[in-house]
Amino acid sequence: MHTISDYQGYFLEYLAKKTTTKEPKNLYEPITYILGLGGKRLRPTLVLMAAEIFDGSYKEALDAALAIEVFHNFSLIHDDIMDDAPLRRGRETVHEKWDVNTGILSGDAMLINAYQLFENYNGDTFKELAKLFTKTAIEVCEGQQYDIDFETREDVTVPEYIKMIEYKTAVLVGAALKMGAIVAGASENSRSSLYDFGRLLGLAFQLQDDYLDAFGDPKTFGKQVGGDIIENKKTFLYLKALEFASKDERKQLLGLFSLSPEDPSEKISAIKSLFETTGAKDLTRAEIEGYTQKAFAALDNIAISQDKKDLLRLFGENLMNRSV
Ligand code: IPE
Ligand code: IPE
Ligand code: MG
Ligand code: MG
Ligand code: MG
Repeated sequence: MHTISDYQGYFLEYLAKKTTTKEPKNLYEPITYILGLGGKRLRPTLVLMAAEIFDGSYKEALDAALAIEVFHNFSLIHDDIMDDAPLRRGRETVHEKWDVNTGILSGDAMLINAYQLFENYNGDTFKELAKLFTKTAIEVCEGQQYDIDFETREDVTVPEYIKMIEYKTAVLVGAALKMGAIVAGASENSRSSLYDFGRLLGLAFQLQDDYLDAFGDPKTFGKQVGGDIIENKKTFLYLKALEFASKDERKQLLGLFSLSPEDPSEKISAIKSLFETTGAKDLTRAEIEGYTQKAFAALDNIAISQDKKDLLRLFGENLMNRSV
């Protein structure tokens, strides 16, 4: 086994080697751009780690790692169009720098490129990877549609929210780990217990993403702080605020979430203080912690050595303490 930052480094080296801008430039430049913007690279790192946890070599897992990062970045280009987001990783989003049509097509090409990378695997490995990927990708689409549908609904429940974030985010984290396990030829039991750890960590991860969207530091966050509030996203913060609001606060909350003002700064600060006064902010932090602990508890079901569990745990702890 290597360290987490080693795996990240191996991936970055491979990514640099594999990204080239071909013709037509307007199709490929946005791809090079988004893939070069950085990001935490957590999904590919998990693929490589998982391969070695089950005694494979990270080298065999590099194409699966690349596939999942390319897919993730495709989903970000399209997500930024759907969320009308101006900033990604501290830079202009693809549809702002180019235009929406470019974002759609470059994103499509990335999705296809991701699939293509599985062609580098043979027989059963190819089939298993492609099958998992297909299932996961369609779930991500379903999650993304729920997310958009919820913007205009007033009766979204917490279980509906959890299902939405499970699909749009958590399944891909689970799939990253499972892909590494597939490449290493791990047993079905091992694959699915590792998937479950990733899924639970992914839920904590998206809760944290929602938290940072409101309470992150604009200097370091890299995305527009308050973006979810502008878009009337039904986040855990919002649902808990609504649940624990006084009559007056409830009226304010519903009122503000029915508006889309030209200048959103007042709406953002009013909503953020409601997130605090209702206790939603603290409840969200507790929920992040809760799902992280559930993920750690799921490690008990995996038949691997303690040092490997510790590495996965460290990965989870780093995620929970992030500011980006
Ligand atoms: C952003 O993912 C989209 C979500 C699922 C929350 P990341 O937070 O992993 O984005 P990068 O790749 O590090 O920029
Ligand atoms: C995005 O969720 C999930 C996917 C990209 C599939 P968000 O919309 O919260 O992600 P960010 O905050 O824009 O990165
Ligand atoms: Mg978004
Ligand atoms: Mg979104
Ligand atoms: Mg977000």
